[in-house]
Amino acid sequence: NKVVLAYSGGLDTSVIVPWLKENYGCEVVCFTADVGQGDMELDGLEKKAKASGASQLVVRDLKEEFVKDYIYPCVRAGAIYERKYLLGTSMARPVIAKAMVDVAKEVGADAVSHGCTGKGNDQVRFELSFFALNPALNVVVPWREWDIMGREDAIEYAKKHNVPVPVSRKSIYSRDRNLWHLSHEGDILEDPANEPNKDMYMMSVDPVDAPNEPEYVEMGIVSGVPVSVNGKEMTPASLLSLLNDIGGKHGIGRIDMVENRLVGMKSRGVYETPGGTILNAAVRELESLTLDRDTMQVKDSLALKYAELVYAGRWFDPLRESMDAFMEKITETTTGSVTLKLYKGSIMVASRTSPNSLYREDISSFETGDIYNQADAAGFIRLYGLPTRVRSMLERGM
Ligand code: ARG
Ligand code: SIN
Repeated sequence: NKVVLAYSGGLDTSVIVPWLKENYGCEVVCFTADVGQGDMELDGLEKKAKASGASQLVVRDLKEEFVKDYIYPCVRAGAIYERKYLLGTSMARPVIAKAMVDVAKEVGADAVSHGCTGKGNDQVRFELSFFALNPALNVVVPWREWDIMGREDAIEYAKKHNVPVPVSRKSIYSRDRNLWHLSHEGDILEDPANEPNKDMYMMSVDPVDAPNEPEYVEMGIVSGVPVSVNGKEMTPASLLSLLNDIGGKHGIGRIDMVENRLVGMKSRGVYETPGGTILNAAVRELESLTLDRDTMQVKDSLALKYAELVYAGRWFDPLRESMDAFMEKITETTTGSVTLKLYKGSIMVASRTSPNSLYREDISSFETGDIYNQADAAGFIRLYGLPTRVRSMLERGM
């Protein structure tokens, strides 16, 4: 039998390869997804995987698919978990898991494996995706079975099995990076009273050090989905990557929060989401022109549930997919342009226009128009306020 392992080339996943062979007697196929984590030394990676004992390494570039089919739907929906988290890690797990299921089929593997710990959200996201896409696959999770406890144990295990110990020095933080975000957890962050160190950040400058001149960025949006930056049409991955550069330069999108993990515990995380913060701001701004009050309220209430499903690893649930059908319909007319002004960590709106705008200057203007008759307001307020008057009369015995 054969297992497909989600492989990064780091110490943990390098140790998992010989561990799987020793404990399950199976052939190990390593799988690495490029979701824009950068720092991938793809050349050396295959050698490394084989040196650990893998029969082969499969690499897939998932960047465009990730942004187009996972990130953009979340932007369109306005999915934000617990008021702050833009779901960067949560959105990446289903696209990686889906590719692993495909690879398992291609190489004839009957099992999949990942290096997530048993304490986090990521294990849930991977495994629910595996269940949804191929319930026949066995799932092997070394962290929930072995007795390798820390870095020293892992190095010792590697040496005993003649696996080269990866040279890259381990960061003190637990990080997860992709095209959308970079997360930081662990070390001094584990005490929510501690402010992060200035040198921890990697995608964004400190707003204090950002340029003293604001920068304008114009976003073109079609049906709730971004299509261009400053008039230039771009593929999803290159558009997001450009916005990361622009946003990062101005210190946009730093989020520091304490969140409720699916497994019950609270955890403290710091996220950098420069491009994503710009995208969310732009699409919400355009919706202010294209959505009426009730539509916006219902959309926002569903966005809460949508975010919860994504966070909890239920990407492939029919519920999430059905909500996406709703989001697609409701944002059909959210097309137009939004210009944002970035300045030292803040985003201000400079301009918004849409051919489908529900805003009408001839109605809303302080100058008199003839569609809206101010005299109508008197009757409207009397009836709209009738329950208020009745209650007040009752309280006063009138
Ligand atoms: N707390 C965030 C989440 O649950 C980030 C997790 C980061 N994952 C990681 N393997 N370092 O989505
Ligand atoms: C992990 O435990 O593998 C990382 C953190 C998380 O999944 O939330």
